[in-house]
Amino acid sequence: MQCKIEDYDHFGRGICKINGKITFVPKVRVGDMIDVQIVKEKKNYNLGISKTEKSYPSVFCPHFDKCGGCMLQQMTYQEQLQFKENKLKNILKKYAGIEQELTIVGTQNKNYRNKVIFHIKEDKIGFYEEESHQLIEIDQCYLLKEEITEVFLKLKEYIKLEKGLTKAMIRSLDKKVMLVVEGKTKKEKLKDFFPMVSVLYYNKELLTNENMLTFSCYDNLYFLSKDSFFQTNDFGLLEILKEVKRLVEEIRPENILDLYCGVGFFSLFLSPIVKGNVTGIEIVPSAIENAKKSALIGKRDNVTFLCGDVRKLFSKKDASLIIVDPPRSGLDKTIRKNLIEGDFKHMIYISCDPMTLARDLKELKEAYILKEIKLVDEFPNTYHVESICLLERLSNETEQ
Ligand SMILES: C[S@@+](CC[C@H](N)C(=O)[O-])C[C@H]1O[C@@H](n2cnc3c(N)ncnc32)[C@H](O)[C@@H]1O
Repeated sequence: MQCKIEDYDHFGRGICKINGKITFVPKVRVGDMIDVQIVKEKKNYNLGISKTEKSYPSVFCPHFDKCGGCMLQQMTYQEQLQFKENKLKNILKKYAGIEQELTIVGTQNKNYRNKVIFHIKEDKIGFYEEESHQLIEIDQCYLLKEEITEVFLKLKEYIKLEKGLTKAMIRSLDKKVMLVVEGKTKKEKLKDFFPMVSVLYYNKELLTNENMLTFSCYDNLYFLSKDSFFQTNDFGLLEILKEVKRLVEEIRPENILDLYCGVGFFSLFLSPIVKGNVTGIEIVPSAIENAKKSALIGKRDNVTFLCGDVRKLFSKKDASLIIVDPPRSGLDKTIRKNLIEGDFKHMIYISCDPMTLARDLKELKEAYILKEIKLVDEFPNTYHVESICLLERLSNETEQ
């Protein structure tokens, strides 16, 4: 069935209508006339694929057609940024009733990712196809940093010789690499095969002397164990810090409460610019241990890190600025309640999921006004984007 792509949905899929029914087609461009094959019929919409052969000049990866990682390569990078701005505006309007002007900062759009997870089946390694567990074998992923690619290519060789591995996580920071493999293999062979790796885990067993990576950034030294979260774009993370610093310098808070603090990414960075104290809360014990170590080395005497669930540790603590950077699922109901009932003058909400951000902002509107949003494109070529929002508590004046 021939049809014209009229718009994009939030995942960057083309939207067209077939017999009046909305049909989503991935990896096409607005304005394309394409032959659509419907692959799934749902009550209110269809899922389709394009049967028209098209080559888009912006596509740089030979795996683009099948891989579920990059969904936006058919757009130029400028178009991707525009798409993400529009996406945020539409989601906020539709789901939070907020109309907000916003801008986006782009980053290097290739070789930016410092962490990746590969799936392995027998002697094949790659990513899963979009919305399935079908392995797409890949030769190279252009989003990854060169240091990761070097280890990936070696891993490709390894699994041809030794079968039994099922999964591999590779992370690279400050030129060093961590490799964590799962499955079954020969420990000694694995160790000998990857001399370029500084940290090597075989399932839960550490096979190297070093057990963590470090990342130095401005005056901070961060420590990363295998199970700690860290921002995945080396260039994007600098933009995020820059933006958060600008906001904090503008607000000049007395003290800061940093919920979901990870290894102290924001707490450590901001501690020299606040007069009072910074408190970070995080659930992963190794992340908190590492954050404390960074604070000690950096002589950040005004920072305290607490390990535990924010739902238990965060009540209506006193802080003039609260920073929240939750996982994709957004803020828990009890956290939203505490934020509304607490006495925080400002909030910086960092979000990697626009839908949960909109859900939370809709509720937080009761007590806060959204002052500004800046987007940072931490995930070029994918439909994901990072949002940094500044909220201010409503006063009688702002409520009018
Ligand atoms: C998006 S990351 C942000 C981490 C940090 N702000 C950064 O930028 O590196 C979310 C963090 O929340 C932590 N987390 C998830 N659920 C939590 C909970 N219930 N209580 C405390 N921390 C939690 C995760 O372990 C993760 O480190």
